[in-house]
Amino acid sequence: MAILKIVEYPATVLRKKTKLIENFNDPTLDTLISDMAETMYDAPGVGLAANQVGISLRLAVIDVTWKEEKEGEYKRTLLVFFNPKILERKELIPFEEGCLSLPGLTETVKRYNQVTVQYQDRKGTVKTLKAEGLLAVALQHETDHLDGKLYIDHLSSLKKDLLLKKFKKNTNTPA
Ligand code: NI
Repeated sequence: MAILKIVEYPATVLRKKTKLIENFNDPTLDTLISDMAETMYDAPGVGLAANQVGISLRLAVIDVTWKEEKEGEYKRTLLVFFNPKILERKELIPFEEGCLSLPGLTETVKRYNQVTVQYQDRKGTVKTLKAEGLLAVALQHETDHLDGKLYIDHLSSLKKDLLLKKFKKNTNTPA
């Protein structure tokens, strides 16, 4: 297990469509999943796409539950999505989002409150999941990553420019 380096905007790997995973017998996928999970929990974040750690594969980890403290403990429910694809979208809502690849920024974007996702599990079995709320938004955010998109692409060009100026200012500030 290792904490991986999170790739930040404007790295080109974030803009490339990721490759479908076909070989589910590849044992290195287990290491990649546990490293991605550890990196996400450490960040801390609720989701991480493989290209955010520099690996251009269609794979994402999500856990929208672990930040809710239950009786002094953080309960983890790690979800792993191979080759996720959104089949259905319902009910547009405004949602304030951030991204581990654009640290220090948040902005409100339009997302769907309900989605149906098709994906494969660790064995390659095709599954579907109906999600709503934060999980639905996280699935849209991560599948966007896997398509080479960032949440800032959902903003007007004016808002996007302002946000990116703020991001450059933040990253240029000496520590
Ligand atoms: Ni992100």
